[in-house]
Amino acid sequence: MSELPNTTTQIETSAAAICSSVHAAKRSGATVGFVPTMGALHQGHLSLVEASLAECDKTVVSIFVNPTQFSPNEDLESYPRPLEQDFRLLEKLGCWVVFAPPVEEVYRQKHETTIDVGSVALPWEGASRPEHFGGVATVVLKLFQIVPADRAYFGQKDYQQTLVIQQMVADLNIPVEIRVCPIVREPDGLAMSSRNAYLLPEERAQAGQLWKSLELAESLVAEGERRVTTIREKMKNLLASSEQIELEYLAFLAQGTVREVDAIEQPTVVALAARVGRVGRVGRVGRTRLLDNHTIGMKNEGRRAEATESRERGA
Ligand code: PAF
Repeated sequence: MSELPNTTTQIETSAAAICSSVHAAKRSGATVGFVPTMGALHQGHLSLVEASLAECDKTVVSIFVNPTQFSPNEDLESYPRPLEQDFRLLEKLGCWVVFAPPVEEVYRQKHETTIDVGSVALPWEGASRPEHFGGVATVVLKLFQIVPADRAYFGQKDYQQTLVIQQMVADLNIPVEIRVCPIVREPDGLAMSSRNAYLLPEERAQAGQLWKSLELAESLVAEGERRVTTIREKMKNLLASSEQIELEYLAFLAQGTVREVDAIEQPTVVALAARVGRVGRVGRVGRTRLLDNHTIGMKNEGRRAEATESRERGA
């Protein structure tokens, strides 16, 4: 393993070496947490690292822009790779090892296997990006073999991805605990994402509307609205007022599933994907595709609804 000058965080590029270091740490009684990333780290990633540091003795972060989860027309080439900056951030937090392998260390030339997790990967993101979850599940399984950690940390922002990974871990008896951590937002509510860096200032200003629409859903439910058609319509109207936002899907899903509901009678994940930017924008990557989600229909919303009603009654 090599160390950055003046750092204690180790950088590893060899799969065999990190695997044996993790086994050795576990044999010595340490718990190991693992945060798989594609780099270009922001506060969302760092919150996963912080969760691992709080719960585990040693934390491994991988930085690997996984080619198999990008379609040929996507942003694999232009995906940001500020490696040096990422290492510094992880070192500052006290991360044990950064695993940053070259592509050929993860995928041998003759690689042909793809993990298919079944129905959870088919709708929504799976429909928009048909090869995406096969690539995600395959690389995450490989990373779990290379970094046999006790716990692995993922962000709620990629809601369907967390379901795909949980399904794979359960189906294939992978001995790792999956932790899903809350979305971290910018001050205007935009969910943190490495792809936010693609937004031009005008696009960035409008992107905050995605969160506004999710907040609207939450407040409609707090006021007593239960019908998904009504909530969806109002959210779409709000987003339609931003000329640079094009909604790709807006789904109301029973929490923990990709199954749509038509009334908010239980905790429901409102998940959306949208393109942000002018139609025909060329630039480095064209229009930016962003994801967000928010859980509504939680118990405390009932209490908020009662509070609203009693305010309206003047109680
Ligand atoms: O969420 C991501 O950054 C990626 O999909 C992951 C889980 C690191 C796999 O490449």
